[in-house]
Amino acid sequence: MSAEIRIDAGRLWGSLMEMAKIGATPKGGVKRLTLTDLDRQGRDQFVSWCQAAGLSVSVDGVGNIFARRAGRNNALPPIVSGSHLDTQPSGGRFDGCYGVMAALEVARTFNERGIETEAPFEVAMWTNEEGSRFLPVMGASGAFAGAHTVEEILAARDLDGVSFGDALHAIGYAGTAPVGGRRLGAYFEAHIEQGPLLENTGNTVGVVTGALGQRWFEVTVRGMDAHAGPTPMHLRRDALYGASFLIQEVNRLAKLTEHSRGTVGMILNRPNSRNVVPGETQFSIDFRDTEVAGLDRMEQGIRAAAKKISDEQGLAIELRQTVFFPPCHFDAGCVAAVRAGAQQLGCRHMDIVSGAGHDAVHIAGVAPTAMIFVPCEGGISHNEIENAKPEDLVAGCNVLLQAVLEKAGR
Ligand code: GLV
Ligand code: MN
Ligand code: MN
Repeated sequence: MSAEIRIDAGRLWGSLMEMAKIGATPKGGVKRLTLTDLDRQGRDQFVSWCQAAGLSVSVDGVGNIFARRAGRNNALPPIVSGSHLDTQPSGGRFDGCYGVMAALEVARTFNERGIETEAPFEVAMWTNEEGSRFLPVMGASGAFAGAHTVEEILAARDLDGVSFGDALHAIGYAGTAPVGGRRLGAYFEAHIEQGPLLENTGNTVGVVTGALGQRWFEVTVRGMDAHAGPTPMHLRRDALYGASFLIQEVNRLAKLTEHSRGTVGMILNRPNSRNVVPGETQFSIDFRDTEVAGLDRMEQGIRAAAKKISDEQGLAIELRQTVFFPPCHFDAGCVAAVRAGAQQLGCRHMDIVSGAGHDAVHIAGVAPTAMIFVPCEGGISHNEIENAKPEDLVAGCNVLLQAVLEKAGR
């Protein structure tokens, strides 16, 4: 047992607060969209900290960064831990950043305590976890795990038409390391919960056993631009009006069971002029569920609704699936290592299923994986007011250290 080894609480908090300055928003959050100059600044800061900790840094062809601390037996596959540094447009200080800083803090603690692990340890930073600027969400960890091709990731375009590949080059992080194709001994990701369960139950640590499946669509509704005055109501083909029925339906379908989620978070309306009947509306749908059958049910429901609205309102409606992954079940051995860490450290803990997507969901496809959650205030995330208690972040990081040591071997 290694429960006597503790991370440096002040150093962890200091790194988090330093990183939060890059892209800081007036409301106390962070806007550090993937592959922007702010993302470059965050990466540069991270890389310089890794180098100062004596880690060897490599960058792969989709911009994922790995910072390696050698083990006694470097022929063994590394134990890896990390998360992402990109944020939502109205993001907080902890989503993603905590997992990267916690893994770095584990490496720094090993250095300080002169701990040699049997297997090497790597700190990972995955590109574009958020999926806010480029689809698919968790794209670069997905490429690492073989769920997406590198070409597909590099070709993705943002709403301004800029490609992922060009943006990656522009910030100087188009690396030369191959994307994936190597074995990992285990992967652990620490993250804030982003929901209210831990806080409501008075637990400090969530032992994450899996994550909801997700299916996303890009929906395009086509009608016809028309003058808002002379065009009688019964002669209109109003794309936005049609879309409004589908948005209602997404929410109705998701409310039918407790474990379903349905969100329309992005909408583009054209020509978006006050006195023009909108001719084209595009929007996203994000469905999540504990079961594939639940995702299928919501897909069937929204397709049926689209057909009905299309027939009734003379609109052409197209649904294009952009993201799919089934509900994920983490590795029993890694989950047990997290639980054992929480027990050794005397943390109140509970098993929990992640409602959010994480890079760990993709990595679970190619390596034994688990996650560690810590509470966040009011369960609020993807919001600038996102907040977490320093002592909870420290507890989660100490649990991470224990789980890494168990798998890396001393
Ligand atoms: C990632 O942030 C997600 O959408 O769950
Ligand atoms: Mn995240
Ligand atoms: Mn997020």
